Amino acid sequence: AKAVALRNNGFARNLSLITLTFQNSALILIMHYSRIMPPSGDHRYFTSTAVLLNEVIKLAVALTLAIYETSKTLAPSTPATVLFEQIYNAVFSGDGWKLILPAAFYTLQNLLQYVAVENLDPVHFQVLYQVKILTTAIFSVVLLRRHLGIKRWVSLCVLTFGVSVVSLPSSETRVDALLLHGIPDHYFPRSKHELGQAVDLSTPDTHLTRRSATYEGIANDLPPPDPLMNYSVGATAAVVAAVVSGLAGVYFEKLLKESPSQTSVWIRNIQLSFYSIIAATLGGVIWQDGSGIREHGFFEGYNWVVWAAIGLQAAGGLIASIVIRDADNIVKNFATSISIVISFIVSVWVFEFTVTVTFLLGTSLVLLATYLYSIPERSRHRPPAVRIVS
Ligand code: C5P
Repeated sequence: AKAVALRNNGFARNLSLITLTFQNSALILIMHYSRIMPPSGDHRYFTSTAVLLNEVIKLAVALTLAIYETSKTLAPSTPATVLFEQIYNAVFSGDGWKLILPAAFYTLQNLLQYVAVENLDPVHFQVLYQVKILTTAIFSVVLLRRHLGIKRWVSLCVLTFGVSVVSLPSSETRVDALLLHGIPDHYFPRSKHELGQAVDLSTPDTHLTRRSATYEGIANDLPPPDPLMNYSVGATAAVVAAVVSGLAGVYFEKLLKESPSQTSVWIRNIQLSFYSIIAATLGGVIWQDGSGIREHGFFEGYNWVVWAAIGLQAAGGLIASIVIRDADNIVKNFATSISIVISFIVSVWVFEFTVTVTFLLGTSLVLLATYLYSIPERSRHRPPAVRIVS
């Protein structure tokens, strides 16, 4: 029975890892698309509202699962008030306040992720974001006292080198690509609001005039105009998000695995979402986007793509917490690094992504590092010889 349970556990773990890989690729592609597609209204949606709604969805799902989990431990005739009291106590007593820190970090990370995906193409974002493997490893050693062997440190150095290679800007190649393929639509101002209402994008003629004008501008005048995609802003946001992600993830793992209270992952998720909602409201909806939201409304610019990004992010957060519980943050990061390949294939098709030699070299190094890290360390101590006593 133990063997079957172990096999089932292994199956559930692998399933959550595979789901996370696909969720991650889909999330970044859809998030990127939601930031570059022509907006539904006069203004693109405010990212802080998406971060907040993501937390609200996670809170609702985690609460439902916690109610289900707790109800299994109670007698069938137990009144609902007792059930809710138990959950309330589990959430608000003990060390629940410790989730304030990861909640603040995850909120910052989620806000930065939007800045990064709107300024970078999905593949560059994914590769740069792999810095979180390095930060997660360092925080795991410091906070969780994990031991990493030489091979793992070497693979982390290869990873860092690969990410630096990819992050080298290559404007020349981009101009070549633009001349070859024409200018992708997403290099154009994304809304009337962002254009200062100067050009009416709804009339195809104006759009075309602007296209050709900008096209000639590129041919004569380097670097290419890209008024709304700013590589250095995107790269900085991606790397800072990676550092914050490493810290938040490892801290969450520490609370989940090392806390004497042995609180379930769903109660931890309720606590995390509760504090994240406060952080997203104060830091995002009020501070970051307050004036815009007051002027245009909370749901300005919402369409099904925005809802898809929010839904995928909420699902990803919940799956990530299961992977952190059943495996760890480092394993989670390696699973998501495989999604680079998926994003790459889709980007070549959908976003006219151009492959450069430096990009291929850097990405190969990142994938090689990922593989190197994942093969088990050879033990320095030989296992004791088995002695047969007759
Ligand atoms: O990039 P990274 O893998 O660190 O992203 C993890 C995502 O999962 C974050 O968006 C974070 O908000 C979410 N998360 C969550 N609940 C957890 C752990 C992570 O929603 N318990």
